[in-house]
Amino acid sequence: MKFFLDTADLAEIEEAASWGAIAGVTTNPTLYAKIGGKLDDFHAHIKRICDIVDGPVSAESVAMTRDEIVRDGLELAEIAPNVVVKVPTMVEGLAATKELAKHGVPVNMTLCFSVPQAILAARAGARYISPFIGRFDDISDDGLAQVENIVESINNYDFTAHTVKGEQIEIIAASVRSANHVTQCALMGADIATVPFGVLKKMVQHPLTDAGLESFMKDWEKVQ
Ligand code: G3P
Repeated sequence: MKFFLDTADLAEIEEAASWGAIAGVTTNPTLYAKIGGKLDDFHAHIKRICDIVDGPVSAESVAMTRDEIVRDGLELAEIAPNVVVKVPTMVEGLAATKELAKHGVPVNMTLCFSVPQAILAARAGARYISPFIGRFDDISDDGLAQVENIVESINNYDFTAHTVKGEQIEIIAASVRSANHVTQCALMGADIATVPFGVLKKMVQHPLTDAGLESFMKDWEKVQ
């Protein structure tokens, strides 16, 4: 399983990259707004992230029509070779994904909440599909079960004829809110979990590690 960092914050990305912990980054309009990002600096900011991370960096198109998403996507793909264009799961998004895949641009199909949506994304040529866990839980449903269904159904078929360069689709478990979400996603075989920095830090921690370290340090004082 790979981990992506779900943030637009350069300090968080630099820190996580220095741990050797992340294989990519995902951003979205909310995460960019959260760091005080401005429209005219968006492409430059994505470039800064691409310069730090040796792996796919998802940048989202906020356009609503096929042609606008394609235009946006082609421009975003020009920023760096590791840019992945994030496109929402909707009719115009599917049509744009098909077109972007034809141009060799990898797409991360986002805001995916069901198996039919995931299969349509795969047929359209998405390279990554991002089912959201937390937002599904937020409406009193079971986000993890939905990710499991999506992983299983995508793995039932071979979609490589549809993807850019015939690569395997990877499922990115998104809207991850806890280390336990990560555990469950690993057990069900999700390829990637994209996690906020706070969750990544919690993933490193365990109370028994802390207790063990404390007792080792105390005992080490005895041998001084
Ligand atoms: O990248 C999209 C997703 O991870 C957002 O998560 O917590 O805003 O639902 P959240």
